[in-house]
Amino acid sequence: MKNVYQSQHPLVKHKLTKLRDHSTKPKKFRELIREIAMLLAYEATADLALDEAQVETPMGVASGAVLLEKIGLVPILRAGLGMVDGVWEMMPSAEVWHIGLYRDETDLKPVQYYSKHSADGQTTLCMLLDPMLATGGSAVAACDILKQWGVTRIKFLGLIAAPEGIAALQAAHPDVDVHIAAIDDRLNDVGYIVPGLGDAGDRLFGTV
Ligand code: PRP
Ligand code: URA
Repeated sequence: MKNVYQSQHPLVKHKLTKLRDHSTKPKKFRELIREIAMLLAYEATADLALDEAQVETPMGVASGAVLLEKIGLVPILRAGLGMVDGVWEMMPSAEVWHIGLYRDETDLKPVQYYSKHSADGQTTLCMLLDPMLATGGSAVAACDILKQWGVTRIKFLGLIAAPEGIAALQAAHPDVDVHIAAIDDRLNDVGYIVPGLGDAGDRLFGTV
C-alpha cells in the first residue's frame, strides 16, 4: 500500500502486545501508548528536512545540522492525547493543536466538538495522532480540518488500523502518509477493530 508504513520494530511489536492485553491497567496502558508513539514518531520523522549548521565544541568546530521544519502535533481527542507527551519530548519546539471528535454510536460518523490551532501559517508538517483507525471517519475528518486550516503536509500516526480505515483515509487523502504499528483483521458490526485493543479512550482514561 502506497504511503502506508507499518512498523517492523521489535520494541513496537513487544509493547503493542502488552497494550492489547485485556488485563493491562490504565497506568501501564498510558505508559505503553506514550512509548509506542515515541518509537513511531522516530520512524515517521526520518525524512524531515535539515539545514547545515556548525557548532563549536570544547575542542573545535563540528559540522552538524538543524531541523528546518516547523512541526504541529495534533491529537484527536480523547485517545490521541495519550500519544502527545512521548512525541513532544523528542521535538519540544513543536506546537500542539487539538481536534475534538467522537463517533456517533448509531452511524459511526465523527462529530466535532472542539478545535484549537495556531494560525501563523509557518507550520510545514502536522503529525496527526490517534491510536485507532477504525472506519477512518475520524482521521478523514481531522485531515479535512487541517487542510481547511492551510496545512499542506500531514502524517497520520496510529497504533492499530483496520483495513477499512486505511482504505478510507487513502481514498480521501492519498497525500497523507500513514504510520501504523499494526494492521488488524477487520471491523466488527459496531465498528470496533478485531482483535484490536477495545476502546482506546476508555482504557487510557479509566472510564470503562
Ligand atoms: C476512537 C478513536 C478514534 C476513533 C476511530 O475515538 O480514538 O478517534 O474512535 O474510529 P473511526 O476510525 O471509526 O472514526 P472515539 O470516537 O471513541 O472517542 P474517544 O477518543 O473520545 O473515546
Ligand atoms: N475506537 C476505539 O477506541 N477502538 C476501536 O476498536 C475502534 C474505534
